[in-house]
Amino acid sequence: MKFTVKSEKPGTVKAGCVVLGVFEKRRLSSAAGEFDKTTRGLLTRLMKDGEMDGECGQTLLVHYPRGAHCERVLLVGCGKEKEFSEQRYRDAVAAAACMVNSSGASDATSYLAELEVIDRDLYWKVRQMVETSVAALFRSDDLKSKKDKTPRQLRRLAVNTADADTAHRAISDGSAIAGGVELARRLGNLPGNICTPSYLADQARELGKAHKKLKVSVLNEAAMEKLGMGSLLSVSRGSREPARLITLEYSGGNRSDKPVVLVGKGVTFDSGGISIKPSPAMDEMKFDMCGAASVLGAMQACAEMDLPLNVVGVIPSTENLPDGNASKPGDIVTSMSGQTIEVLNTDAEGRLILCDALTYCGRFKPAVVVDIATLTGACVIALGGHAAGLLGNDDALAEALLAAGNYAADRAWRLPLWDDYQPQIDSNFADMANVGGREAGTITAACFLSRFTGDYHWAHLDIAGVAWKQGKEKGATGRPVSLLTQFLLDRCKA
Ligand code: BES
Ligand code: MN
Ligand code: ZN
Repeated sequence: MKFTVKSEKPGTVKAGCVVLGVFEKRRLSSAAGEFDKTTRGLLTRLMKDGEMDGECGQTLLVHYPRGAHCERVLLVGCGKEKEFSEQRYRDAVAAAACMVNSSGASDATSYLAELEVIDRDLYWKVRQMVETSVAALFRSDDLKSKKDKTPRQLRRLAVNTADADTAHRAISDGSAIAGGVELARRLGNLPGNICTPSYLADQARELGKAHKKLKVSVLNEAAMEKLGMGSLLSVSRGSREPARLITLEYSGGNRSDKPVVLVGKGVTFDSGGISIKPSPAMDEMKFDMCGAASVLGAMQACAEMDLPLNVVGVIPSTENLPDGNASKPGDIVTSMSGQTIEVLNTDAEGRLILCDALTYCGRFKPAVVVDIATLTGACVIALGGHAAGLLGNDDALAEALLAAGNYAADRAWRLPLWDDYQPQIDSNFADMANVGGREAGTITAACFLSRFTGDYHWAHLDIAGVAWKQGKEKGATGRPVSLLTQFLLDRCKA
């Protein structure tokens, strides 16, 4: 979808649809008030007739409003004006995008960014309009023989505002981020038989071809063997798909600038291995590469915005399947760091591939390392689908990630990484076990990772609860691409 900027009166603007906000109870926003005048009280009349009173979530579409120059007008309920929060704004924008898209209008002019949102400026409102509209219209029909078609699709959305410079900047950033989110969702939704480790590597190579500051390299199993990645390779043993270690290096900063390193868990299907998972909803374990997808999405957004910093993406990718050659509970493997690991549960495979990737990161002399992983079911229990779990060894880094998530409406919540939890992963036979019992599963997983983070600043995002939705709306969310990209944007300013 294409976004443009306009500064015109709502009554006289030429558009397939004009989008206006209405507050409770029957309070017209200022643009809606103007429109009402031009149309000699059309909106006032509609509200008097009880068609709509401005409640959140309400919409009303009217065709050929007499006196105006548009083909349609869409009224969007925004709730109480004093309570118009970020979330309400995003809901209004999403509802508008869906309604306009199905109305048959191919272009629209929206006056919603002119509404006052508590604590947020125009840049935020326009950027959110872009991100939220693109996300609301996302469809996953690539693999359907008949596409989910609406009659005529919304192709151009104009944002009405007097401050064109800010709006253009927000549209440009918002489009890059929306594209990154879209890439992450598309990859996340692909099934395990298509999206294999090699497929992810090819996707990374494509990104490398599209952006000249992005260099991509891929290690095969022999190369990983040479590096001593015995832990990562213990997971791929049970699969016929070869593992890959994908590295993307974006050089937007000075040569000497230490990079931000993003590490994404890329398990393209997690059956649990010999510690096999129960069958119900096992299909959802195709989403176990959503960390990897979010790294690709964030790298694409970063390259598209041409950010002035260095970023490295590292993606360890494999399947986790049972087989005669697969790891067995009790097996002891040696990681690239030299530390040995007793694999008590082959379903705790994410940490086994991430630990070698984290050791590998040391070679980039990182400013900070952030790993992103659908790591524990325990995190879904703790935080549900609303916030990602955040743990790490550096308060400043953790605070920066939390702030980025708050701004980008892609929130995380911090959990403690105290030494008190470390004994849970003691092993009688190796340096550590790969599981720490039922209690505090998200924390003990992070404790395990912390033993491989050498001497750099590190944070871990457990996205098991936020990376995809279940049920009728089943599908990848693209989270936390927005958080990560905002974090990178913030670092450019600092
Ligand atoms: N990919 C899963 C985590 C997961 C489970 C994410 C359910 C989303 C929904 C991970 O590899 C896993 O299986 N973790 C185990 C760890 C346990 C064996 C210590 C888990 O959480 O059950
Ligand atoms: Mn698992
Ligand atoms: Zn997994």
